[in-house]
Amino acid sequence: MIDRQTNIRLAIVVAMARNYVIGKDDGLPWQLPDDLKWFRQVTMGKPIIMGRVTFDSIGKALPGRDNIVISRNNDFQEGNVTVAGDMEDAIAIAEAFAIARDVNEIAIIGGAQIYAEALPNVSRLYLTEIDADIEGDTFFPTFSMDEWDRSVAQEITSDDRNQYAARMLTLDRKA
Ligand SMILES: NC(=O)c1ccc[n+]([C@@H]2O[C@H](COP(=O)([O-])OP(=O)(O)OC[C@H]3O[C@@H](n4cnc5c(N)ncnc54)[C@H](OP(=O)(O)O)[C@@H]3O)[C@@H](O)[C@H]2O)c1
Repeated sequence: MIDRQTNIRLAIVVAMARNYVIGKDDGLPWQLPDDLKWFRQVTMGKPIIMGRVTFDSIGKALPGRDNIVISRNNDFQEGNVTVAGDMEDAIAIAEAFAIARDVNEIAIIGGAQIYAEALPNVSRLYLTEIDADIEGDTFFPTFSMDEWDRSVAQEITSDDRNQYAARMLTLDRKA
């Protein structure tokens, strides 16, 4: 567990297929514009922490959020991004941004390596459950639903825009 100095909530934001797939070929193996809208809504205004591969796949800093990218490469540099050398460093930087902006949550937005490292430390998951098994090469770590209180925030049906049905859940770790 990472030692923390503040009560600012750490939350993971992830979209996951039934078989735990979250990515393929360094991208997302689905088209779900309503999930992207949801992602924007839950992350806007907050510090966001991501791995360097995820940053490369997005291709730019996301506006309206403090972008923190974790990399072991000391030479890594990008516009509008703060680089952190590890998860602990990233959380400390994110806490400083959160305090400066008076927000009470830090969003950890992937990918698989970063989720695996962050999961024991987070108290909330914004989980989009996609109603399909989808082929991919990157997976969310397995976890037990029993350890979380679950509420449904939104549901989407598959249509000509959204490729699959899905539901957006908020999971809070049980005390
Ligand atoms: N479905 C979703 O919600 C969702 C969300 C985000 C991403 N994704 C998908 O996930 C995939 C990418 O995930 P990934 O696991 O391959 O990569 P990632 O977690 O995004 O990034 C991995 C990189 O982060 C850096 N890193 C990781 N742990 C570190 C540590 N302890 N200290 C320092 N640096 C560290 C390293 O960067 P350097 O190599 O620069 O050292 C490493 O190569 C893509 O397919 C993406 O589309 C899905």
